[in-house]
Amino acid sequence: MPPARPVRQPVRRHSQGRLALFDAVEGTAALLGGRAWYARRWLSARRLLLRREVVPVGCALGSHSRVRIAQLSDLHAGRLFNARSLEPVVDRLLGEGVDAVALTGDFIAHEVEAGVALRQPLARLARAAPLGAYAVFGNHDYRGRREQALVQALSSEGWTFLRNDAARLGDLPLWLSGIEDPEEGRLVDIQAARAPIPDGAVEVCLCHNPSAGPALARPGCVAILSGHTHGRQIDLPLLRDLGPRHPGTRVQLGPTRLVVSRGLGVVGVPLRCRVPAEVVLLDLVPGGEPPPSP
Ligand SMILES: [Fe+2]
Ligand SMILES: [Fe+2]
Repeated sequence: MPPARPVRQPVRRHSQGRLALFDAVEGTAALLGGRAWYARRWLSARRLLLRREVVPVGCALGSHSRVRIAQLSDLHAGRLFNARSLEPVVDRLLGEGVDAVALTGDFIAHEVEAGVALRQPLARLARAAPLGAYAVFGNHDYRGRREQALVQALSSEGWTFLRNDAARLGDLPLWLSGIEDPEEGRLVDIQAARAPIPDGAVEVCLCHNPSAGPALARPGCVAILSGHTHGRQIDLPLLRDLGPRHPGTRVQLGPTRLVVSRGLGVVGVPLRCRVPAEVVLLDLVPGGEPPPSP
């Protein structure tokens, strides 16, 4: 009999009351012009941070001198972030030689329709990534348990959702695995996510919540891409502990680098303090030790 797989009942981190409060504050901020102000202040070509992470994979990468994966996270589409917010980010990435795109969850703030409305810029981004566009869900994406609507809308635009699953990047020895959100996913199955990956292959794991990092790190997995924390969003001493725990933007977990994106969008107020909005450019390069089997 195969070993039992981890199945978790979802834990709702945000109460309905707290989410309604966020919604009301975001609505008020939007009426005051908060969406356009936020996009100008944090997402314009001059303001957006492209953070580079270079990770050696220990093997050849075919004809590639490096494979570049652009990681976007935490868009929180809704009253404070829409397709117009995302367009300048896509424009900026088009000149960066991106090979693949990874979106590590929290597409939406509250309503799944706001995520579906990102279809055009997300399709444009997918078309610019010859090795594909991949996504996992974050805790916000399960609102109303309607996340499948995002899958339906974006699958036809070139996006692959890794829901406890893995995909190979072209004919390279590189695999992306994707885990359902550890807090609110109905089924979190790490074993299933990694089942397609052969021994000796190089893995990059997508998981929205970085708190799962220690359970996911293993030989052969060179990087875990996470988001969720927004880098604390408002990084002031008295407000630091209001959001999820932020372990840092780069944490080495044995053989695996945990990369935590500070994301693109916001929750609650259209403000960031001492925390940029960012896209991580993960450059996988030949060199280093060959990947051992897990
Ligand atoms: Fe988020
Ligand atoms: Fe999140």
